[in-house]
Amino acid sequence: MTNGNAETRKRGNATQHGPDNPGLRDSVRIGVLVSGHGTNLQAILDACARGEILGRVAVVVSSNPKADALERARRAGIPAVALTPRSFPDRATHDARLIEVLQAHDVSLAGFLRILTPAFIEQFRGRIMNIHPALLPAFGGVGMYGARVHEAVLARGVKVSGCTVHFVDESPDGGPIILQAVVHVRDDDSVESLAARIAEVEHRLYPLAIRLFAEGRLHTHGKHVQIARDAYELVRS
Ligand code: GRF
Repeated sequence: MTNGNAETRKRGNATQHGPDNPGLRDSVRIGVLVSGHGTNLQAILDACARGEILGRVAVVVSSNPKADALERARRAGIPAVALTPRSFPDRATHDARLIEVLQAHDVSLAGFLRILTPAFIEQFRGRIMNIHPALLPAFGGVGMYGARVHEAVLARGVKVSGCTVHFVDESPDGGPIILQAVVHVRDDDSVESLAARIAEVEHRLYPLAIRLFAEGRLHTHGKHVQIARDAYELVRS
């Protein structure tokens, strides 16, 4: 997440994320990257509208010009841009344009179906989050997205799944974990029923992670994200 105020700062071995002055409303300007339905985008928009996040969604970028998410952004009066990968000669040029559009923002990936270049990740290090519909590090990595995740979960017979919000680094789905929530797998679950229960939980977890970021309550030490003690109640409720 980013801009003039929001940033990541080194404190000893730790990195503190978020704005310098958390009391300043609108200090975090979020750029959300989407490719599809945008239900997580909607949850973030709604949390901002309820005043739960010290900041706002300032731009939505979609890799798919037909994504419902673009319509959600427009309905909320937020600039929405479609950057279709095939209209760029290569990934590097596409990501360079993405960096240009997003440079004054902190970034949330919300169902963005593109692998980002190292240059993009470097640009937003410590300021870019993603949500994954399983309990990482299980059922993540290259090729694990959408229904494939839930199919793999059901095929393996695990008893719990859930979702994970993490910072994005160069390892696919391997960045520092911010928050996780558990969803029990039922014997009669289908991909659709499990996905629907996980989606409900995602819509609470992602805005909460962004809220903690915006309030400067996240510190990373390598792969560990420490949440400020005074936020424990929020995280456990
Ligand atoms: C979610 O399941 C999320 O975990 C994954 O992509 C999906 C996006 O759904 N990264 P939506 O577009 O937010 O509805």
